[in-house]
Amino acid sequence: MTFPHAGAARPYLFNDRTVEGYRRAMAAGTERVADRIRRADRPFSGVSPERLAPEIAAIDLERPLHDHAAALDELERVYLRDAVYFHHPRYLAHLNCPVVIPALLGEAVLSAVNSSLDTWDQSAGGTLIERRLIEWTAGRIGFGPASDGVFTSGGTQSNLHALLLAREEAGAAPSRLRVITSEAGHFSVRKAANLLGLGPDAVVTVETDTQRRMRPAALARELDRCRRDGLVVMAVVATAGTTDFGSIDPLPEIADLCARAGVWLHVDAAYGCGLLVSRRRRHLLDGIERADSVTVDFHKSFFQPVSSSAVLVRDGAVLRHAAHHADYLNPLRMAERGIPNQVDKSLQTTRRFDALKLWLTLRVMGPDAVGELFDEVVDRAAEAHALVAEDPRFEVVTRSPLSTLVFRYLPPDYLRHEGPGRKLADDANLYAREALAASGEAVVAGTKVDGRHYLKFTLLNPETTMDDVAHVLDLLAGHAQRYVDDLAPLADHSEVTHVHS
Ligand SMILES: Cc1ncc(COP(=O)(O)O)c(C=O)c1O
Repeated sequence: MTFPHAGAARPYLFNDRTVEGYRRAMAAGTERVADRIRRADRPFSGVSPERLAPEIAAIDLERPLHDHAAALDELERVYLRDAVYFHHPRYLAHLNCPVVIPALLGEAVLSAVNSSLDTWDQSAGGTLIERRLIEWTAGRIGFGPASDGVFTSGGTQSNLHALLLAREEAGAAPSRLRVITSEAGHFSVRKAANLLGLGPDAVVTVETDTQRRMRPAALARELDRCRRDGLVVMAVVATAGTTDFGSIDPLPEIADLCARAGVWLHVDAAYGCGLLVSRRRRHLLDGIERADSVTVDFHKSFFQPVSSSAVLVRDGAVLRHAAHHADYLNPLRMAERGIPNQVDKSLQTTRRFDALKLWLTLRVMGPDAVGELFDEVVDRAAEAHALVAEDPRFEVVTRSPLSTLVFRYLPPDYLRHEGPGRKLADDANLYAREALAASGEAVVAGTKVDGRHYLKFTLLNPETTMDDVAHVLDLLAGHAQRYVDDLAPLADHSEVTHVHS
């Protein structure tokens, strides 16, 4: 343990006397990241937790380095070298987008100024900027002037917030409340139901069609059944961009059914919200304007850094259900005087000014440019689908209207061995994904469809070319076939052979 002399910590405080140190530290950090990005020839080093954990554990947090450059050198070793780089064109795994530079500028500014958007007296213009962006997003959705909303930490919180409002509006005993979503809906709906104290059977899933969209007829049946059983459907959650398939539930038909049944419609557009700024595909979201609440994740399809999300409501008055007035922070008299305290609407108290990233993005690039980037990845996914659909090595599930591709490698003799063949196909695909990640040459995701293991691309990088896609498919096929030829005969097939890097 070191005992610095009195005042030794003062130069680290950011203020009018330390701006030179701030400039130098930020420039060094920016240079370090720029260098990494310039040199990164693959999205991942392939490091395993076993190899990295001891390096991090060995660092003595009681012994500071007293030097930004030395700390950055260390960071290079324990983080930057082995981080997963979403900007790389062969990162094709989850819903992580590469980020735009104006948003990175926003990130640097917002953390340095460090506004907190709970109250006007901690943010001033930050609050007004967030409000303008909520208004702008609501306008893109097609909501009217009564609409409102608030930025959140992500889609999970946005969904939770929307369902909290729906629960309060429903006003029935929790044990009688039901939430209906499709079998392809996001798991955060279940999490939200749990957090909201609903019963274990509260979330009812209805079947999807071959394109993995909610079947309106199945929803109608479920709404009827709940009514007959004396249950109260507090919300239907439609998904505009399912996580695995990018499918968009038929919003107009679902809105009709919800209107007829007097049920709250929440649209989870965490992924599909990028269409709000698409000039070519905005129509795919038609019907979203009839929702009571909408989740948008700017950190999925607006090329924003994590976190940047919002929940929007058609009728801003419902946000009162999350309001609490604390004497020390946002007393009721402030609301009565019209002082804009966003904490009156938010589940969070201290809250980042994440909206600034989107603000600078819109002010520098404009919405059409963001939409163009998203349109490009949707185009690329369509091309990738065509490529895989014609490739006899693979089987593809559906064609996504957004930018995912769910497929699997089929061993050549798969069809000849019904039972064992299925297991072999599962294990080969699991192995291929792991082996590819361990090589670091590309990162892809995996999921299960109808009980079988599949591989998944989520294309969010306009820099990903069809050559990248074709190359990754070849790599996957190579790993999967190697499993079939060399490893499967050695395995007892009870568990996939794991890859060690
Ligand atoms: C459709 C959908 N909704 C909600 C979420 C949760 O969003 P977040 O990860 O920002 O909490 C996701 C995440 O992938 C998603 O795909």
